[in-house]
Amino acid sequence: MSSQTQTVAVLGLGYVGCVTAACLARLGHNVIGADRDEIKVRNIQAGTAPFYEPGLDEIVRAEVAAGRLSSTTSTAEAIANADVALICVGTPSERNGNLSLDQMRRVNEDIAQHSAKRTKPLVVAIRSTVFPGTCEEVVMPVFKEYSNISVVSNPEFLREGTAVRDFVEPSLIVVGGSNKAAVETVAMLYAPLGVECCLVSLRTAELIKYACNAFHAVKISFANEIGALADRLDIDGHEVMQTLCQDKRLNISTAYMKPGFAFGGSCLPKDLRALTYRSARLDLQLPFLESVLDSNQSHLRRAIDEVLSLPQARIGVYGLAFKENTDDLRESPVVALLENMIGKGRDIKVFDPHIRLESIFGSNRNFILNAIPHIARLMEPELEGLLEWADHIVVAQNPPAAIAARIEASGKPVIDLVGCRIGQAAAGNVSAKTLTSVNG
Ligand SMILES: NC(=O)c1ccc[n+]([C@@H]2O[C@H](COP(=O)([O-])OP(=O)(O)OC[C@H]3O[C@@H](n4cnc5c(N)ncnc54)[C@H](O)[C@@H]3O)[C@@H](O)[C@H]2O)c1
Repeated sequence: MSSQTQTVAVLGLGYVGCVTAACLARLGHNVIGADRDEIKVRNIQAGTAPFYEPGLDEIVRAEVAAGRLSSTTSTAEAIANADVALICVGTPSERNGNLSLDQMRRVNEDIAQHSAKRTKPLVVAIRSTVFPGTCEEVVMPVFKEYSNISVVSNPEFLREGTAVRDFVEPSLIVVGGSNKAAVETVAMLYAPLGVECCLVSLRTAELIKYACNAFHAVKISFANEIGALADRLDIDGHEVMQTLCQDKRLNISTAYMKPGFAFGGSCLPKDLRALTYRSARLDLQLPFLESVLDSNQSHLRRAIDEVLSLPQARIGVYGLAFKENTDDLRESPVVALLENMIGKGRDIKVFDPHIRLESIFGSNRNFILNAIPHIARLMEPELEGLLEWADHIVVAQNPPAAIAARIEASGKPVIDLVGCRIGQAAAGNVSAKTLTSVNG
């Protein structure tokens, strides 16, 4: 599909809707914005933005004058000729923290009600922030009678105050859905921006938005707590954080950003404990950093529960050290996992390519012998021996490709605790090839 002008209805002309409508018009699309709030609609008809956002007024004025942007209070009018309906209504918090979907339900029912005689295809793209499953469970059922209406997720990532710039220079464009043509139709809206769209599944698109906002909140809280500790120690927190950000390999990078097993080893748990202990002695509460070890413990508990849910059988564990390419066993989460399995009477054997008990000394040796005195009897010297003996394999450490292939080839059922995706290579994510074909 080549880049082309589309007719777009934008439903909801708040911060997200108005910026989206004006900027899509600027990209050359024909845009009709709709809102139940007459004041916003009249503002746009008069060529002014209904609220302050740097640069927005000028775009609204120019695009209304050029005839590419108009507005209405009528959903029917907005969607009449539309190829895409972008849903930008509010999803505010309820008192219990849940998000309210009243506006979402209402606007989709409105579209359905006015689509009875429709023959032209329509892609309903949910731009509002909604919890994973909302498109499938709340939006799609509204259109189940309409074979020409498809639903995709297209979350918005703009920030108020820089919303126009964020639209024009997007940090991320995500379109999710299972109908390839519908997904591509929405991705093509942004083709003039020259930015690759990430095409993913519907639920992935919905969750990415929450993951991004949670990540931003986590980053802010982290920087603030390090800053507070720095202040208390009479250290320049800005200098600390700026220096931390100089490390683009481990700190500001994709390192550690992969769901996997709990962390362990001789540094992270020890240093977090010291940091929070010493902060408490300074009468400084750092609840975010204090919660990290608890979070890690909960993650380990989930893994233990998953492994213990296996039927009573022979369980082969791949990995013993706290991560790959080391023989360091100190505070290895695998050791805690094994202790639990042994405590529940599970029949286990362990293989780790870098562990030879006879070559482990000092605190490393003491740690493992204190935790599991009979560890030597559980160790399998060769992977093949483990694979042959076991009914189930638990992958507790990232395996190199050759070992992953051998585990896979064994055909034994695998619990993958580290996210190496043994057995899922073929399932993969939406390929880069698809991405290129959309915007290329
Ligand atoms: N504001 C942001 O910075 C931002 C950024 C990214 C995502 N989001 C998400 O985008 C969504 C919209 O946010 P917002 O800040 O623009 O909300 P908003 O409250 O400013 O705007 C929502 C608009 O929808 C209109 N509306 C409600 N029901 C309607 C209906 N049935 N028909 C037509 N219009 C209707 C309302 O009148 C209002 O003008 C939310 O889910 C929000 O979480 C917001």
